[in-house]
Amino acid sequence: NNPPWPAYRGYHEYSFAHATMGVRLPTILGKAIEDTMKTLNEQSAEDQVTDLLACIERMDGLMTDLSGNAKLRPIIDDGEADVALWNKAIAKYFQGKDFMNAPWLFAEAYKYRRLRECFSVSKYWRDYDVFFRQKCDTFSRSADAVFELSMRFAEPFKHSENMSDAEKLEAERLMFHELTQICLWGNSTDLSLLINMTEDQIKSLQSTGGDHLAATEKNILGNQMPQLWETVKELRQKTGGRIDFVLDNAGFELYCDCVYADFLIQSGLAKQVRFHGKRYPWFVSDVTKKDWEWLLNTMVYGYLFPKATEQERESLRRMGARWKQYEKEGKWVYEAHPFWCTGYTFWELHGEAPDLFLHLSRSDLVIFKGDLNHRKLTYDCAAPASTPFDVAIGPMANAAGAPKVCSMRTIKSDVVVGLESDELAEKLDNEEEGWKISGKYAVVLLSEGRPG
Ligand code: F6P
Ligand code: MG
Repeated sequence: NNPPWPAYRGYHEYSFAHATMGVRLPTILGKAIEDTMKTLNEQSAEDQVTDLLACIERMDGLMTDLSGNAKLRPIIDDGEADVALWNKAIAKYFQGKDFMNAPWLFAEAYKYRRLRECFSVSKYWRDYDVFFRQKCDTFSRSADAVFELSMRFAEPFKHSENMSDAEKLEAERLMFHELTQICLWGNSTDLSLLINMTEDQIKSLQSTGGDHLAATEKNILGNQMPQLWETVKELRQKTGGRIDFVLDNAGFELYCDCVYADFLIQSGLAKQVRFHGKRYPWFVSDVTKKDWEWLLNTMVYGYLFPKATEQERESLRRMGARWKQYEKEGKWVYEAHPFWCTGYTFWELHGEAPDLFLHLSRSDLVIFKGDLNHRKLTYDCAAPASTPFDVAIGPMANAAGAPKVCSMRTIKSDVVVGLESDELAEKLDNEEEGWKISGKYAVVLLSEGRPG
């Protein structure tokens, strides 16, 4: 049950797989080692120091494997809930494969799993996050966009008194249209690509103003936002009204996701939003439970933005307090299934994680954020750009019980589907080098699912 197109692999020199496996991953690992050394220098207790040193040595070993293109060995049983899933995949599909000739998606995920293993077998540092500093730091440098949104959305969403029902619905549609784009473009700041971003670079990526959004809407190459609204506006009538977010990055992207989810709850379009994060550090900036808690608590209690006005600070506090309240009331739920931290694509989700598939099939809409989720949905393979989204995602569209699925993703890697024609992609291939990895373009695609 595989798609008919070949999956990208590290040795495909024409693909972003090559630069990622050969250059980006060693760079990311090098930075992770530096971070751990920094932490090591801050320790005093000898047993903790030596335990952390052993983690660094394991990371060095991983670096040797990665740069020497070693074969993928099984994962050590470190008590993680995903060990069996990993080792089954290695035994069944990737025996004898190395970092470069295994499918890119699998090999890249495998690197993050091995990184996890460097710490998970330790005594004191099991939950150490080598990317945590970076994630917090980037959010703290996102002040302008953070306050632009909090100053607008801290006040609860309300319709003005004398509006007709039709006018109310139109106001909601406009708000939905804007917030969908804010949520979408929030994905352009993932840290695996922007390791050394300046404050100005961050700012230009995070413009959330109306003019900017209107100008960038033409860069949404496959744009099913109108169909998405048709789906969402029906939800209010449903008894459930549950929307799921399969999250991507922590910090600013998560903050935008929450602003969007806040609107969905306040407007009554959804009754519950479930957020799916990762169980441990993943692809540099992906959301873990700790990142989730950090965001909400720093909004309410933190002093992250020294230059903020009292009014700005208050807007952030208010919004954060409201979000924490949603959590208490069960309107927002954070969860982290082990399957999300594996190398499987989502073509395999219903087979390898049937409990998760069943869980998602009860949702009214599952929104997958970001590039990696898009690669997983589409098997990360060389499908023609005009391939309809529901064909490209296979069982996630056509297996019995498949929920409605939306992919909101800025384009940062090779696979592009759901465009009106192949010509559009060919034109960009000819005219704009690097268009598939710049994050300048995006897709918002929807599959209607198949009721079980
Ligand atoms: O290394 C490539 C990649 O997996 C791409 O999917 C993308 O460039 C990046 O890492 C992660 O992006 P995102 O955070 O949007 O999934
Ligand atoms: Mg990510």
